[in-house]
Amino acid sequence: LKFEGKKYHSIWYDRDKVYIIDQRFLPDQFVIERIKTADQMITAIKDMHLRGAPLLGIAGAYGTFLAHRESFSKPEPEEYYENKINVLRNCRPTAVNLSWGVGKIDSLIKSGLELTRVLAGAKALERHEVEACKNIGGNGFGLLRDLSNITGGRPVNVMTHCNAGWLATIDYGTASAPVFFARDENIEVHVWVSETRPLNQGGKLTAWEYFHENISHTVVSDNSCGYLLRNGMVDIVIVGADRVARNGDTANKIGTYLKALAAKANNVPFYIAAPLSTIDFSINSGKDIRIEERDENELKYMSEVPMVHELSPALNHAFDITPADLITGIITERGIYKPGELLRMNL
Ligand code: MRU
Repeated sequence: LKFEGKKYHSIWYDRDKVYIIDQRFLPDQFVIERIKTADQMITAIKDMHLRGAPLLGIAGAYGTFLAHRESFSKPEPEEYYENKINVLRNCRPTAVNLSWGVGKIDSLIKSGLELTRVLAGAKALERHEVEACKNIGGNGFGLLRDLSNITGGRPVNVMTHCNAGWLATIDYGTASAPVFFARDENIEVHVWVSETRPLNQGGKLTAWEYFHENISHTVVSDNSCGYLLRNGMVDIVIVGADRVARNGDTANKIGTYLKALAAKANNVPFYIAAPLSTIDFSINSGKDIRIEERDENELKYMSEVPMVHELSPALNHAFDITPADLITGIITERGIYKPGELLRMNL
């Protein structure tokens, strides 16, 4: 994404530090955070300075490199390193990309590579994910082009949820990549961006990205999505994913399942866009996916203003599972698959 004329990734390494865009400050302020230690990376992930499955994967990769680098100056380097990467891979449990990124760099370290080559491995993983998202864009674009052929000149209406744009990945995004491709090919697209309570990743981040990319979009409340789907205002739903099981069941931001149900009831195609790093071939179904529960105060307060009586308990599941039978297809860098086809994929 270009911001004020300059091109950015959402994470990058320069000299001896990792840099991220601190997403907590958007859309008001564009703040870049410098990360020098594994502990700083752990805090950035836990407290959601950065978030989004593919970005968590690369943050995990750089965090593992940092833990390895600092372990050299510790009295018990191996113990130090193992403890840090354990905390790192578990600090957000639902997105499989985090443990994927940690695992990739950990295996380079365990194979005895020298430090500079471990760093090169993390940078290569970053480039790999950018390329994956670009290809997701190319593959998903065909769906929007086909829809534009039947909408008779009016813009194709896409609905999305949460933020699966370049901030959540490294560049391009997953769910947003086909939209960027359509814009580049002069296909008119309009995106319904659901605000995504309680942390408002849709309103704060996705709308900000689309604004800066000149993509026509409208922010809507999460609760209005059934209404829009029922009234013919949506041609396709495309969302990202945090973990896809072998049978195609998909964990994504809480509220995704309700959109999938409403899409099915109204014959609107519902697509997941995700790189292969988000597919967890070690689990058979969504039942095996751990759903992160976050602090109840995320629900009970908005910018420190109480929204709920302080003595009322709140339950804050951050993700839900959309069963495979509600998913029309999964857009990956390799192509678009029906959920059931993942079982036959040979990786
Ligand atoms: O809690 P978050 O903001 O990390 O949740 C993010 C999502 O649910 C995204 O939709 C998902 O990670 C896909 S990002 C391409």
